[in-house]
Amino acid sequence: MQEDVLTDQLNRPLRDLRISLTDRCNFRCAYCMPKALFGANHAFMPRSQLLSFEEIERLARLFVGLGVRKLRLTGGEPLIRRDLDQLIGMLAGIDGVEDISLTTNASLLTLEKAQALKAAGLNRITVSLDGIDDATFKAMNDVGFPVAKVLEGIDNAEAAGLSPIKINMVVQRGVNDHDIVPMAGHFRGTPHIVRFIEYMDVGNTNGWRLDEVMPSREVVERIHAEWPVEPLEANYRGEVAERYRYVDGGGEIGMISSVSQPFCGDCSRARLSAEGKLYTCLFASAGHDLRDRLREGADDSELLEFLKGIWRRRADRYSELRTHETKVVDTRKIEMSYIGG
Ligand code: GTP
Ligand code: 5AD
Ligand code: SF4
Ligand code: SF4
Repeated sequence: MQEDVLTDQLNRPLRDLRISLTDRCNFRCAYCMPKALFGANHAFMPRSQLLSFEEIERLARLFVGLGVRKLRLTGGEPLIRRDLDQLIGMLAGIDGVEDISLTTNASLLTLEKAQALKAAGLNRITVSLDGIDDATFKAMNDVGFPVAKVLEGIDNAEAAGLSPIKINMVVQRGVNDHDIVPMAGHFRGTPHIVRFIEYMDVGNTNGWRLDEVMPSREVVERIHAEWPVEPLEANYRGEVAERYRYVDGGGEIGMISSVSQPFCGDCSRARLSAEGKLYTCLFASAGHDLRDRLREGADDSELLEFLKGIWRRRADRYSELRTHETKVVDTRKIEMSYIGG
């Protein structure tokens, strides 16, 4: 007998759970946590409101029972959360988990930390790096953090075997697009995969404007003019990045075209905030509270039914709607620092 696959209203299975561990970050990238809004007076989540490692593990186990195979830990900056290797060890112990990855700015990634994460069961990391030119990068992170320290973190991850390492660069026209070709050039010839991301209208605080979005097509053209590239097949159905390889064997790059070519049709991702709210879309305005249910003593079967109901009702496809309609219904969206990338 065939196992029933849980699917949503658009026939999409649930495969990917992205878990935010904190809403804090030591950077202040203007498109994510602009200083004016995330300053000294900003109220971050108090510790008691964060899911404990035990609560996260319990939820992850339930999600795996519903079809999840990939876990990604995000933030804010997840390395700010203490004893992260303990949590990784707990998640790695769940039967059915095929891949555990971490999205980080790598600023806190010492060799010891990288090795401890690897030993606990982390498979790989993805590093957010929005410029390779030191002045550009310092301006992007807005706390004057030097690019050399991030490159050190990447080296530490490589030495610890946390590969393949992906490097994510959000491209904003007129802000860091001059650094596209240097960024590609820097990582050409290494095993690391740089992915160029179209700047999205997530959250309400970044003052997003369409004219700051550089379509991936243009990014590919710029790189191709320097070092010819050709497209590669996707690694798996629903892969977010379109893959390219350098024709001369210099390695792989990727394009994430969430604005110009949305990929909602295959979206099998659910997101869990650090305080235990479940979001079925990056652009959702409201989440489903799981923490209170956990703390009120719900048993596994009640929680499973609740989760199944949420997924079965899911019809989100924000990025596709944004493209097809000139103005999307005015919504209050969650912030990226709250839910991770
Ligand atoms: P892999 O497992 O390595 O293929 O990871 P991934 O590319 O799915 O995940 P990653 O977190 O590296 O995603 C990179 C960027 O793509 C994010 O920071 C977002 O900008 C964008 N992105 C990822 N998932 C979604 C999504 O579900 N919707 C939209 N609109 N953008 C997404
Ligand atoms: N557009 C696209 N990607 C974004 N990220 C954060 N904000 C945006 C945005 N507005 C992604 C970046 C970052 C990760 C945490 O989330 O890749 O590195
Ligand atoms: Fe921090 Fe990443 Fe947001 Fe930058 S984009 S402020 S590094 S969470
Ligand atoms: Fe998935 Fe929402 Fe992103 Fe579309 S916009 S790919 S539905 S998270």
